[in-house]
Amino acid sequence: MTTRVFVDCDPGIDDAVALAYLSARSDVEIAGVGAVFGNSGVEVTTDNALRLLELYGRPEVPVAWGASRPLVQPPRLAPHVHGANGLGGVELPAPAGKPCEESAAELLVRLARETPGELDVLAVGPLTNLALALALEPRLPDLVRRLVVMGGAVRDPGNVGPHAEANVANDPEAAEVVFEAGFTLDLVALDVTMRTVATAEWLTELSRVPGERAERTSEFLAFYSDFYTEILGERQCAMHDPLAAAVLVDPHLVEGSYRTPIRVELNGTFTRGMTVADLRPRPSKDERHPVRVITDVAEADFLGRMLDSLR
Ligand code: BDR
Ligand code: CA
Repeated sequence: MTTRVFVDCDPGIDDAVALAYLSARSDVEIAGVGAVFGNSGVEVTTDNALRLLELYGRPEVPVAWGASRPLVQPPRLAPHVHGANGLGGVELPAPAGKPCEESAAELLVRLARETPGELDVLAVGPLTNLALALALEPRLPDLVRRLVVMGGAVRDPGNVGPHAEANVANDPEAAEVVFEAGFTLDLVALDVTMRTVATAEWLTELSRVPGERAERTSEFLAFYSDFYTEILGERQCAMHDPLAAAVLVDPHLVEGSYRTPIRVELNGTFTRGMTVADLRPRPSKDERHPVRVITDVAEADFLGRMLDSLR
């Protein structure tokens, strides 16, 4: 069975690996890609999405330009993590293709309406495009089969603040709209992504894989792993976005999860952008539609599949 997926992303180095993971699969149709500001400005992330789909052998996938800023706050980018060009300073050839006429939100809504109940959505950037799509089509949660979000930090610390993770913190209002909307939603938060890291051995193994795809990706990851080495104290890096892609297309990799409603703190002097779950040991009175928070995955299997996708 083919999985039909719309990818909303801000490439971004781990976004790039997520695109590689999906592109390598003959059982995955990437129906469209939406770009959003985040790791870089949207003009850069859109251009990178085009370049990456050409690198990974999916030049036919429509790429749509999305939001250039969050719904309320000013944008905050991450050149220190992903490089000024979003790809660790690695220059891929200029794309042959160009973005489609529709916005990312319009493309997502059109694709969802075309095949009601069949489209999956992978969101690995700020959730602004999804919030805009919900404004265009409030029935989106019924039209898509499943949404997998890389974002948030439920029990674990944040990465852009004590409690806030980048994708949620980069547009808390949009994230709150998405968590409220009633999607069948898997949340791949820092709780699992910071425990499922690419090791030094994995990075070395990738550096020995011949071919354009693996070589360029290894170069992106050299920049990205420098950032993580500083934080984690040894040479390794979190693979946030590819792990979310794996949860979507390889659901059997999930070994632990729990269900809870999620709310996003929109005020808070120290907690704006925090993903809040009521985890007190009694049935929650929160009537919001619960999401599935992923806590454990088959790590070795995931790392092997990620490497295979680049071979
Ligand atoms: C998330 O933030 C971005 O920098 C990464 O691409 C990932 O989607 C991790 O917090
Ligand atoms: Ca991302």
